[in-house]
Amino acid sequence: MRFRVALTAMILCLCCGGLAAAQSSTDGTYGVGKTPTPEEIRAADITISPDGKNLPPGKGTAKAGAAIFAQKCAACHGENGYGGLAPILIKPEPPVKSSTPCLAPCIGPGSVMPLHAPYATVIWDYINRAMPFRQEGSLEPDEVYALTAFLLYKNGVIKEDEVLDQTTLPEVKMPNRDGYAIPDWKPGMPRPFPNKRKG
Ligand code: HEC
Repeated sequence: MRFRVALTAMILCLCCGGLAAAQSSTDGTYGVGKTPTPEEIRAADITISPDGKNLPPGKGTAKAGAAIFAQKCAACHGENGYGGLAPILIKPEPPVKSSTPCLAPCIGPGSVMPLHAPYATVIWDYINRAMPFRQEGSLEPDEVYALTAFLLYKNGVIKEDEVLDQTTLPEVKMPNRDGYAIPDWKPGMPRPFPNKRKG
């Protein structure tokens, strides 16, 4: 017991010593990073709300999206939106088994993002901020609207000629819209989605 107290005290001393050293080496700060300017914060603030707030002007249809998908996405996601190394984006009909092992969380035909997401804006936001992989931020808003329209059309959520823009995109009713809602759960009640794993 005494040994443990001594050890804890020693670790605390070492930590504090380290911090003091780091602090004293600068003018009271840790000497790393810098305060972002308001412009830098604005540029990084690209989050799109479910109600469409922050969506930029632009528009696109599935037809335009098909061409962009073939050019910029198919290499990783497969020509038909499945069967590539990257996650399935278009639910295969009839279902096919994924060629790659199921990652955790499993992204298979049952959890295709353009079907499973609660809001269409989620798909727009994801593509806009994260795709194409390694060339993030290279897509124009019109391209992102068109790609979102293409993926939603191919998954049977919208019609081929529907135009997606700032107003129509947030209005798309996703089939799994209510799948994320927890029905009137209060602390102490059994979990609505019990963990099926043992142990
Ligand atoms: C160089 C390969 C590559 C290219 C090109 C690419 N992607 Fe991806 N994409 C990925 C990988 C890898 C992931 C999984 C990333 C992760 O989960 O962290 C992914 C994930 C996604 C997801 C999320 C899927 C999910 O269920 O989580 C969407 C949507 C998506 N990509 C759309 C696109 C679109 C649209 C394009 C074309 C503009 C594109 N991707 C181009 C590799 C790529």
